Amino acid sequence: KPSDTFDYTYDETYRPVFHFTPPYGWMNDPNGMVYHNGQYHLFYQHNPYGARWGNMHWGHAVSEDMVHWKHLPVALAPDELGAIFSGSAVVDKYNTAGFGEGAIVVFYTSAGQQQTQSIAYSLDNGRTFTKYAHNPVIPNPGIEDFRDPKVFWYAPQNKWIMSLATSQSITFYTSKNLKQWEKLSEFGENIGAHTGVWECPDLFPLIYDGKVKWVLFVSINPGGPNGGNATQYFIGDFDGTTFTPDPLPYPLWLDYGRDNYAGVTWSNIPESDGRRLFLGWMNNWDYGNVVPTRNFRSAMTLPRELRLAHNGLHMVVASFPVKEVGDEKDGTPIIMDKLTEETFPIGADYYNNGYVLSFTIKPNGLSIFDFALQNSKGEKIIFAFDTNQKTFVVDRSQSGLSDFSNNFAKPLIKAPLTKKDSYTIHMWVDKASTEVFINGGEVVQTNIAFPTEPYNQLKFDLRGNTAISVDNITLYKVKHN
Ligand code: FRU
Repeated sequence: KPSDTFDYTYDETYRPVFHFTPPYGWMNDPNGMVYHNGQYHLFYQHNPYGARWGNMHWGHAVSEDMVHWKHLPVALAPDELGAIFSGSAVVDKYNTAGFGEGAIVVFYTSAGQQQTQSIAYSLDNGRTFTKYAHNPVIPNPGIEDFRDPKVFWYAPQNKWIMSLATSQSITFYTSKNLKQWEKLSEFGENIGAHTGVWECPDLFPLIYDGKVKWVLFVSINPGGPNGGNATQYFIGDFDGTTFTPDPLPYPLWLDYGRDNYAGVTWSNIPESDGRRLFLGWMNNWDYGNVVPTRNFRSAMTLPRELRLAHNGLHMVVASFPVKEVGDEKDGTPIIMDKLTEETFPIGADYYNNGYVLSFTIKPNGLSIFDFALQNSKGEKIIFAFDTNQKTFVVDRSQSGLSDFSNNFAKPLIKAPLTKKDSYTIHMWVDKASTEVFINGGEVVQTNIAFPTEPYNQLKFDLRGNTAISVDNITLYKVKHN
């Protein structure tokens, strides 16, 4: 019975320490992320009966800091309209739906014979949900892929907006009462990557240079820059009806790594906080069902703050772990004051608890070097930094277990670099994951790996290039207790 499992977390080699995982069973997309009465809610695509995709429910957890989570019973279970696919949540402050002032209202895809959109509400801080009696609120217009509603309040026009993935486009709907929805516009037919199905949209504003820009996330599977799934985005303007993208070199990718998918942002973050907070599923449909964990699959990425930045060529959406995760300011670092090719030991208190590696590179002309996490069995994950090729490449072909899928080890995982005066690298490592952020997340690579013995060494390989300047090499424990 699902509700009996939530108070017990199966211990396993690859269960991370400071990333969210379901206590038992399968997890994919984050759903219904909303901040309410001092708690961050995280719902998620969940199979409470097994560690593979199927029987989709919404699992549920709450947190006060997005790092320490309390597991709660399953929030939504399948019904006669179908399984419960991905969706979102809002706080209905003005009781526009009539369910009650301050109700949490959730939107999800009912996945039965057809995909339709349904709603449910909670009047008890998200602890229990009542499904609306007249679901679905948006019937299927005759297309197969019609899902993942993400809703927000558009204050300038006093109305709700829903972004919905509709095959190869995003359709925007509007409503005054969350129950009746009307189509506004459709975006995306001739722009961006279209090699896979469009899923999990999110439209939200970010401030850049004192001006509001609108960002649209669209997850796509397959067709990511390095195979399988990934999240592309568009930057532009939104007038309450239509999203108009700026002319940028699309597709643009939030994360070039293989393992950050279907991520969206939290709703109802207080204005006094003002951050745009994100979380993604740290896995890939290419191999998600067979990664070598047993009682659970899999983890979420670290919670990240989104911002607009300039990469030297154009505007980008940068993402970086939230301060609550803990970083170098929290602990006493181990400092390597000189860049050498000697192996640098990583102690058990680091690899058992998770750590952050950081350093700054000043390219003196050519800057080509590798750094690797490795163990005594010769397993390693290699990060190759190359300002000549303008790439940052992750090689996990020898990273540990990989025979669970033909799709895991290869190919090389590439991200583009633009010209900068310096590059600061931050990498969070937590058992089976590496999340690398360059220059505050202008370029990101999130990749999972399954070493059969913890990586207990850091190794730089200068590839014969002595002119390079790499400074402030530090290793910090993540302080998460
Ligand atoms: C994305 C996705 C969504 C869907 C859900 C089903 O990973 O395919 O489009 O709602 O997963 O679990």
